[in-house]
Amino acid sequence: MRTRLENLDGLALCYENGQSPAFLAGQAMDQAPVLKQAYLDMEGGFIVDFGAMDALDRSQDPQGLRVIDGQGRWAFPAFIDSHTHLVYAQERSGEFEQRMRGATYAEIAAAGGGILNSAQALEAMSEDALLQGLLKRLNQARNTGTAVVEIKSGYGLTLEAELKMLRVVQRAKTLSRQPLFATFLGAHAVPARHSGNTEAYFHEVLTGMLPRIAAEGLADFVDLFCEENYFRPDQLRALADAAQSYGLPLKAHVNQFTSIGGVQAAIASRALSVDHLEVLTDDDLADLTAAWSGQTGPMPVALPGCSLFLQIPYTPGRRIIDAGLPLAIASDCNPGSAPSANLALAWALSCHQMKLTPMEALVGLTLNGAAALGASDRMGSIQRGKEAHVILTKPVSSLASLPYHFGENLVEHTFVFGQ
Ligand code: NIG
Ligand code: FE
Repeated sequence: MRTRLENLDGLALCYENGQSPAFLAGQAMDQAPVLKQAYLDMEGGFIVDFGAMDALDRSQDPQGLRVIDGQGRWAFPAFIDSHTHLVYAQERSGEFEQRMRGATYAEIAAAGGGILNSAQALEAMSEDALLQGLLKRLNQARNTGTAVVEIKSGYGLTLEAELKMLRVVQRAKTLSRQPLFATFLGAHAVPARHSGNTEAYFHEVLTGMLPRIAAEGLADFVDLFCEENYFRPDQLRALADAAQSYGLPLKAHVNQFTSIGGVQAAIASRALSVDHLEVLTDDDLADLTAAWSGQTGPMPVALPGCSLFLQIPYTPGRRIIDAGLPLAIASDCNPGSAPSANLALAWALSCHQMKLTPMEALVGLTLNGAAALGASDRMGSIQRGKEAHVILTKPVSSLASLPYHFGENLVEHTFVFGQ
């Protein structure tokens, strides 16, 4: 059955056949196309037509056409959350309270809290219970506009528990309509049994976990937390090399708290994305810019919810775009550093805190998010033949109204494969 959104006040990020770029960078991010007084047709899960209302030819309408009046509303590609840790056992509001009383994230982690706290809770929870939690969070994210979600492991830290996490994602792939991507993040923290011996645990990740996970086809990407007291840049490179032999691209947590060469290692490893970047030195930005001079480099991914929650600097998104680079925006949703998968809020934070224009941030949440997953050939913009993941807003006076009304949910419906 065909569904038509008609009389839309505006349709954003719409491209004629074959014209959608794989991503937008620099000044082009603010100039993404908009069609005023528009319609959009979806059928069989895909975008089949769009255009200006005055060009709409109703003589070809198929039987049973379902028409939704979009007067006073906007439509644009649904959000693509390219970075989450959405499989977890329980929240860590106790640690939040400790932080609000003055403890730091690093202090809590050093005392056995943080990621290790989540790993302990996850070990004790059944696969079924984890799955129920994940499905609930996916549904909640959809209510605020998210259609597509990348989900990382990394709260397992043993072969069995990492497999459990990734199997949960695999089961969710078959149960949820939302397209999901799985990332193996075994190198997320050094578990207590290795008592700080990073080398020994990393060896386990590389030779014990990765081959098994690759053999079972449980991951689409690999990732590593490159940070002081976690994993080093040379380990990032070693993981990328090993993953490449299984055809698994690298995504990387770099420069969240310190700049220790993670950006450079990710560039050398041809990472698909470099995520976090809250602490980005001039040299890091220069190296990223140089990497992009050949047209493609690792997609920079900002996670403004993490900056809000941990009270750390925001990724310098304005500087990244002004340097001519692309920028993607994701939630980082996890129980320790960003317990929200609300990308409508991330849109507002990107404008209010990173000084992005509403359109630049929308591109970061859609087309560039798709590029951070290597999936922009099939999603992330409005083009005939692309998957129909689309947001229809509530009545709004402009596109800017959405990030303007921060904290309000102005998403009326998130279509996933046209439904
Ligand atoms: O992306 N930085 C590493 N990992 C997560 C936080 C993990 C946690 O605290 O549970 C992040 O912020
Ligand atoms: Fe993360």
